[in-house]
Amino acid sequence: MEYKLRKAEPRDVSDILRLVKELAKYEEMEHHVLLTEKELLEDGFGDTPFYHCIIAEIQGENSSDGLKVVGFAMYYFTYDPWIGKQLYLEDFYVMEPYRGMGIGSELLRHLSDLAMKMRCNGMMFVVAENNEPSVQFYKRRGAEDLSQEEGWRLFRFNKNSLVKMATPAEE
Ligand code: COA
Repeated sequence: MEYKLRKAEPRDVSDILRLVKELAKYEEMEHHVLLTEKELLEDGFGDTPFYHCIIAEIQGENSSDGLKVVGFAMYYFTYDPWIGKQLYLEDFYVMEPYRGMGIGSELLRHLSDLAMKMRCNGMMFVVAENNEPSVQFYKRRGAEDLSQEEGWRLFRFNKNSLVKMATPAEE
């Protein structure tokens, strides 16, 4: 089956949200997805995009079918004060029936080309501890497990914590 990769466009936000939810479901975290299409549109396609996406699509089975979005990679750029520019891979997902066809590897190749073009020094990402197939998928491609090898722990201030630390809003 032939597939094609391309940059996401504003018209893709419903497919992006669908795939974000499918991945969250795969990770048994579906109830954490609060984002709407409106926010995805504003945040990814405004003057200052907060994320970018590469979309994988295939031609539907019948000639009358259109193109179908079957996978995606969501990414943005970050900065590491020790080594500089990094590409951060935020979400990476291929729908179950289309796995094992090379789409995931091609998405990573595309991102690696982009990272080289932007002179990045690495690609960072987080993998759920129990997602062993993906841990192995990344390791086979040379990824290092920094939690294990360097002992980093993943932290977050949630919105409540931020509100507490922030300057109180004026009455
Ligand atoms: N399902 C999954 N993997 C299969 C497979 C199948 N039905 N059949 C074969 N594979 C093997 C392939 O041989 C290949 O092995 P390799 O690592 O030795 O090359 C690998 O699994 C898949 O490679 P590829 O076809 O290039 O990737 P993909 O299109 O299957 O996409 C993922 C890879 C990780 C994006 C995809 O498996 C996925 O969406 N997984 C669930 C979500 C997830 O875990 N995302 C990552 C979150 S950190």
